[in-house]
Amino acid sequence: MSAPARVLSLAGASVQVFVDSSSACLAAADAIARTIHAANGRAVLGLATGATPEPVYARLVGLHRAGELSFAGVTTYNLDEYYPISPLDPRSYRAYMHRHLFAHVDLPPNRAHVLDGTVPEAFAAEHTAQYDRWIAADGGLDLQLLGIGRNGHIGFNEPSELAVDEALKLPTRLVSLHPVTRADAAREFDGEAHVIPRALTVGVAPILAARSILVLAFGPRKAEAVAEAVRGPVTPRLPASLLQTVPGKVVWVLDEAAAKGL
Ligand code: GLP
Repeated sequence: MSAPARVLSLAGASVQVFVDSSSACLAAADAIARTIHAANGRAVLGLATGATPEPVYARLVGLHRAGELSFAGVTTYNLDEYYPISPLDPRSYRAYMHRHLFAHVDLPPNRAHVLDGTVPEAFAAEHTAQYDRWIAADGGLDLQLLGIGRNGHIGFNEPSELAVDEALKLPTRLVSLHPVTRADAAREFDGEAHVIPRALTVGVAPILAARSILVLAFGPRKAEAVAEAVRGPVTPRLPASLLQTVPGKVVWVLDEAAAKGL
């Protein structure tokens, strides 16, 4: 059990600041394990990719190997996927999830959902609408795990000039990536010019509908986006600030560097 060094209550969210990202990830994994246990093993989880949650998955795999956690009754819905991309491509988020979690636990493969980067474009809207219907049919997400982009994106919900009420209604859909996101993905794609410029993302509305939301951010590069999201105005220009509209269910899990602007 890893305890935060300090806990702040800001704009309706609980902000847990840990001495380092390793202890923060242990705490995040324990929160996910508690959610699974509280649902008698039948939790519905929204999962994120990126470098940030990798140690969280490592810890969940460790708990599973120690016989302390089963995913046999769990259902997962991943947040996003590049488009178009094959699940065989190691840069796909399906492949990431296989490497970091799915291959190592007893999660039934037919309940490990990732948006399909191979759906023909003419059917993308049908596919993403179906994804939202499936989440709803499973009773909604018990917990959504989130990272945050340097530009404040959540999933691949990028900064926009929409009105707040329009942004809050955004469903799961096909989107274009923001220049900052493309620059940050350059390392995975062997240069910015090779970054796949579009993606499928779970929308703002289904993210905010989750019963609890755990947002992870580590390191100084995230500090500005975190401060804006937690204390700044609610604006679709910084999508993570929309989390302020669901007070009481958001927990920020930060290290000291990411919490610097708070
Ligand atoms: C990526 C993903 C997000 C992720 C974010 C941060 O582009 N689409 O879901 O949370 O950007 O990534 P990282 O954890 O690698 O900093």
